[in-house]
Amino acid sequence: MEDKFRNKSFFISTYGCQMNEEDSEKLSGILKKMGYKRAENKLSADLIIFNTCCVRENAELKVYGNLGALKKLKKQRPELIIALCGCMMQQKGMAEKVIKKFPFVDIIFGTHNAYKFPEYLNRVNHQNVSVIEIQDKEDGIVEGVPIDRESSVKAFVTIMYGCNNFCAYCIVPYVRGRERSRKPEDIENEIKELVSKGYKEVTLLGQNVNSYGKNLNPRVNFSELLRRINNVDGIERIRFMTSHPKDLTDDVIDVISECDKICEHIHLPVQSGSTRILKKMNRNYSKEQYLALVSEIKHKIPDASITTDIIVGFPGETEEDFEETLNLAEGVEFDSAFTFIYSKREGTPAYKIEEQISDDVKHERFNRLVEVINKSAAKKNKVYEGRIEEVLVEGPSKNDSTKLMGRTRTGKLVNFQGDKAFIGELVKVEITKATSFSLLGRQI
Ligand code: 5AD
Ligand code: SF4
Repeated sequence: MEDKFRNKSFFISTYGCQMNEEDSEKLSGILKKMGYKRAENKLSADLIIFNTCCVRENAELKVYGNLGALKKLKKQRPELIIALCGCMMQQKGMAEKVIKKFPFVDIIFGTHNAYKFPEYLNRVNHQNVSVIEIQDKEDGIVEGVPIDRESSVKAFVTIMYGCNNFCAYCIVPYVRGRERSRKPEDIENEIKELVSKGYKEVTLLGQNVNSYGKNLNPRVNFSELLRRINNVDGIERIRFMTSHPKDLTDDVIDVISECDKICEHIHLPVQSGSTRILKKMNRNYSKEQYLALVSEIKHKIPDASITTDIIVGFPGETEEDFEETLNLAEGVEFDSAFTFIYSKREGTPAYKIEEQISDDVKHERFNRLVEVINKSAAKKNKVYEGRIEEVLVEGPSKNDSTKLMGRTRTGKLVNFQGDKAFIGELVKVEITKATSFSLLGRQI
């Protein structure tokens, strides 16, 4: 432990996806190793970090708003260190733009050099200058970074970094670089260590887990990796995300149905129900191919929950295209969906398409889609009423701390009355009531 950081505290605000959450857990692990402690809140922290996202414009606007609010705090406490990192910072010219607007920021770094954070902190402390370091190119994978996880029950485990797909709307390949897979041994060892600490569930993370292993020598594909992890003693549940429909193969569906620890849940972003728009999005599958995949999943894993991501208002989307999306959602009956209004991202191919859709039309389509999704989510949840489900207890309920919350194997959120001693355990719960968003139950 480095003494000069003892008694100092940090606060991390994380925006965006699970990948960013895991990156923040790594930053937290690095800081704790240096002697820092977690602060109770932003106001009392010696170091405030924003781990940013740029997938949609909203995420960026939130960062600007929250940074603006820190100006006063920094004036009152000039020794406060403010750091910015993550996807938004990795965009070309962004760091310069941010430092011009918010000159009180001390450290800015991108997605490829977080492991160098202690060096940046030392430079700020010794030289009293701002440190801006964005690496253009990704290094190889840096193993062994300490991770301070939010949960002691379930853990994210990144199996691959980056993305090679270049969907026309998406900024991720530009800020996270090309696909790089971790070695299966490193992943297995991390999971064994998690088991030794009492973890019961892992979620394997990657932008497109189905193309895992392509850069490995010897090559190991995703279904082989899943089988290897299923053989790790002591882990009870294995989840993964995100699957790309163009790469989800039959053998992965077979592995889910055959391996006892792999949960019956597939997150399979469709993005649009119109083949014409899917083509413009550069998704590389048609509506029919997506529907055939869904049929295959439902046939081989009858209990599976299927969730998705859908974007409305992609440039050029007509009312007919959108109705195809609605029809697809009605037909598939998703268990839930993340629904997004298309957001124009500079640097992506879709940015230059002229037929942008008006905000009014986008919002109107969004509302119609949400209605369809809520209806199918309620219907899919209703089936659970009266069933007895295995629930992994994650902690107290968010809205009612006298209750516990956990998830079924299919990823359904369950709230139920129970003893806190069961946190971290697999328990049996009888489902008494379902809504669109969660289930209520009674422990038996
Ligand atoms: N606008 C709206 N939604 C987007 N997504 C990615 N880029 C954009 C964008 N520019 C959505 C996709 C993806 C999810 C993580 O975010 O649906 O699957
Ligand atoms: Fe973005 Fe497409 Fe890669 Fe997903 S698969 S991260 S949507 S480019």
